Parts: sequence; structure tokens; C-alpha cells
Amino acid sequence: MNVQNRTIFSSDNLPILRGIDTQAVDLIYLDPPFNSNRNYAAPIGSNAAGAAFKDTWTLSDVDNAWHGEIADREPALYQAIHAAELTHGKGMKSYLIMMAVRLLEMKRVLKKTGSIYLHCDPTASHYLKMLMDSVFGRKNFRNEIVWQRTSAHNDSNRFGRVHDIILSYSNGQKGVWNPIYTEHNPEYIAKFYRHKDERGSYRVGDLTAAGVSQGDSGKAWRGVDPTDVGRHWATPGKQAWHEDVHLPENYENLSVQERLEALDAAGLIYWPPRGRVPGFKRYLSTSKGRRVHDVITDINPLSGRSKERVGYPTQKPIALLERIIKASSNRGDIVLDPFCGCATTCVAAERHQRHWIGIDISPKAVDLVRIRLENEVGMFGKVIHRTDIPKRSEKLPNYRTHKHTLYGKQEGLCNGCQTQFPFRNMTIDHIVPQSQGGTDHEDNLQLLCGACNSTKGQGTQAQLISRLKTQGVLR
Ligand SMILES: C[S@@+](CC[C@H](N)C(=O)[O-])C[C@H]1O[C@@H](n2cnc3c(N)ncnc32)[C@H](O)[C@@H]1O
Repeated sequence: MNVQNRTIFSSDNLPILRGIDTQAVDLIYLDPPFNSNRNYAAPIGSNAAGAAFKDTWTLSDVDNAWHGEIADREPALYQAIHAAELTHGKGMKSYLIMMAVRLLEMKRVLKKTGSIYLHCDPTASHYLKMLMDSVFGRKNFRNEIVWQRTSAHNDSNRFGRVHDIILSYSNGQKGVWNPIYTEHNPEYIAKFYRHKDERGSYRVGDLTAAGVSQGDSGKAWRGVDPTDVGRHWATPGKQAWHEDVHLPENYENLSVQERLEALDAAGLIYWPPRGRVPGFKRYLSTSKGRRVHDVITDINPLSGRSKERVGYPTQKPIALLERIIKASSNRGDIVLDPFCGCATTCVAAERHQRHWIGIDISPKAVDLVRIRLENEVGMFGKVIHRTDIPKRSEKLPNYRTHKHTLYGKQEGLCNGCQTQFPFRNMTIDHIVPQSQGGTDHEDNLQLLCGACNSTKGQGTQAQLISRLKTQGVLR
């Protein structure tokens, strides 16, 4: 990996992302502007004073070269953006183009076992999901997480809008996944763990599952036939037992009826005073807690008086990042936040022994990450601050070796003036210039005739086309 742990870049994230090695990062969390049509500034006097970012988008915010790059690399993505433009207008189109070029780079830097979480809100979440489906693949979609970000919001003509959306995708079928549990709340315990014996409180779980079976699990046991109620026996497998439960060593290999006998001998079967079908005692002391689901209501937004608050606009709670980081990465993994703001992700990653890289266009981010790491993690002086574009360390073949393939792909036509040239008169051009982080990968190369190449210079492809039109070379 060509970027060191604990690096913060103060820069636009696009050239930085282009400079990060391919498949180098385990987890990406991004909390970009949401297209909220607002501008944000930190309050004067807060640690974050001076930090500001705009979240209004017009076509002038979009580099014309990005259109071509998206249309060329991902036609489906381009169509999705076009559809959004038709239904929502040019502002949304500009926002989505800004996002799409960056998502393509994030896909490249993410490992095949990696995951990405995109934080947004209902303004653009439906369009962003189409972008994510195109870039990361529909089959790699994992969750649409709803986070209740505020307890109330007064909206005059509709239900109060109180949630954000976080879209999560893996970058392949084998993404890291660590289930997360939270403590049961007292009401839940009172409602479900109603029974008690000498081992403590327990709730009664099912010993049967839906559907009849012709095998052992469909046969009667102690006079109870699960088939009578359209079910079959489903004995619990390996799990955390209460410490004084001793089941036979070969429990897993026993027949269904033998397992039921073993469970009963260990006092784990609940016989209802009325009714015939027994249940299974699930003790509170062996419960890992409540498995976290995709609606988050137990992580509160930062209140005005929260100790965590540094005054950065749109600052997210550390607990939210901790949940994501614990679920989708392991110790020592690399976490990247390309819109890191006041570096909440970096602090959460540091707390959980993950490596991290943050990028933010606002130079305030680096000051804040230093302050926060000192105050919240007790870490001093280890943050690396960079403003340069990193150089990829991966070995690429010399870009000149692509010339024959490109000549075939372009069928001998110059990608500027669209004129046929002999092979020897063609020159290789970097579509995104090297000076802007463009790489030697084949997908960033094209053939231009000598005249078009010098017309393009260090400019973008869109600038070349517009110059050729002005000169009357192209219509
Ligand atoms: C919603 S805030 C992120 C807040 C962050 N999650 C936190 O908890 O502090 C979005 C951030 O994106 C940054 N940003 C906007 N455009 C950017 C770009 N092109 N490159 C890097 N950062 C950008 C803004 O400066 C802002 O800090």
C-alpha cells in the first residue's frame, strides 16, 4: 500500500483516490455532501471554526471530462445519471457525476473482500443506489441502513423527516462480516425472559420448525408428533450453553430423538403446563444480546452539549462509525474515509486498532483529527499530513505496450479528429493527464494524431473536443 497509516490528505479526493494503489483498502465509509442545496459553516468559536463546505451543485461544478469518462467506462452508470437528470434536473445530474467518478475510483482501491458504506439521505439515496448497483454490482448490495438521526423534525405537510440512509455493498461475495449484538433493553427482558429456574431467567424458544419431514425429525418423541401441527423437530446446534450444562461430547452426531433426550436430561426442555409441544430454554446469561438490524435507533445524534461535538457541520457520532467498522473490518485492516470532515471515522478506526486514511478538501480536517486523537484516544503527534498526490506503487506495464491494442480498439481512428492514421503517426495520450493523477492503465489511454495531441496538451478530453469544434475540425 502506497499510503501510510494515519495519513490525512487536505485536497479534493479525486486525484488522491486516483493515486492510491489498486485493491489496497478493506473498508470505505463516505459521508459526502447530500445535495441538500445548502452551504455549511462551523460556528465561530468552536474547534471547527473556519470549516465550511458547499452542497449546491450546478454543471459548472463538474469537469466535462468526467462525463466522457463515465460514459466510456460505465455506460449503465451514465444512463442512470441521465434518467436522474430527466426526473430531477441538472443540479442532481451534476451532483451524481461528481459522485460517480469518485465511486469508480473507490471501487478500484477497495479489496475484493472489502466493503463500502455510503451515507446519504432521501434527497438522492434512490439515485445513489442506482449508481452503487452499476459500480459495485447489484448482487453485492448488502443493506439499506436507516439511521434515525434526530428525534423530531417539524415538517408542515408530511411526516417528520428524521432519518438518514446508509447504503452498504461488498466488493465481492466474500466481504468481511462480524455480526454485532447490543444489550437487550429492560422492557424486552421483562417481556420475553419471563421464566426463571435455578440457572436464571430464560425465554422459551422453538424446538420445531415449519414444514413436515419424512425423516427422523418428523417422527414422534415422547408422544408428541410434530407432523400433527405441520412442523418437524429442530434441535439447537452448537451454541453457547449455560456453564453447568453438560451434553454428550457427540451431541452433534446423535439422532434427533437422542438429542431431544440429551437436552431434556440436561434440564433444557420446557414442558408447558398446558399444550403438548415442548420448547427450548434460552437463558439470558448465554444470550449475546440483540442482533443489530438495519434500522438504527439506538445511536443518538450528537446533541449541542455532547462531549464529542467539535462544532463541525454534519459531524457524525463515533458510535455509528464504530458499529460499521466492527461489522465490516478486522484489526489491522485499512479504513478509508474520502470525505472525512472532522475525522470521526479516523478516530473510530484508531480506537479499534484499524489503520486509517482520511481525505477532506477542507484544511480544517487535519487540525481536528489531531485535536480529537489527542483528546479522545490519547495519541499525540502521529498524524501524517499530506497535500501531494500519492504515486501508485503497483507495477504497470510500460504504457507504450498498449499501443497496438488501442489502435485495434479505435480501428485506426484518432480519438480527437476521428481521422484514419497509419499506426506510426498515432501517439499515446493520457485521457486524465498524469499531472492530474491520471495513470498508465489502459482505460486511461487513447490514441491521438500528433496534431490533436498537441492541441489537447495538459487539458482534458472535453477541452480537446471543444477546441476541435471551434477550429471547425469537428462539427
Ligand atoms: C458531510 S461532511 C462529512 C462529515 C464527517 N463524516 C464527520 O463526521 O465529520 C462532508 C465533507 O466532505 C468534504 N468534501 C466535499 N467535497 C469534497 C471533495 N471533493 N474532496 C474531499 N472532501 C470533500 C467537506 O469539506 C465536508 O467536510
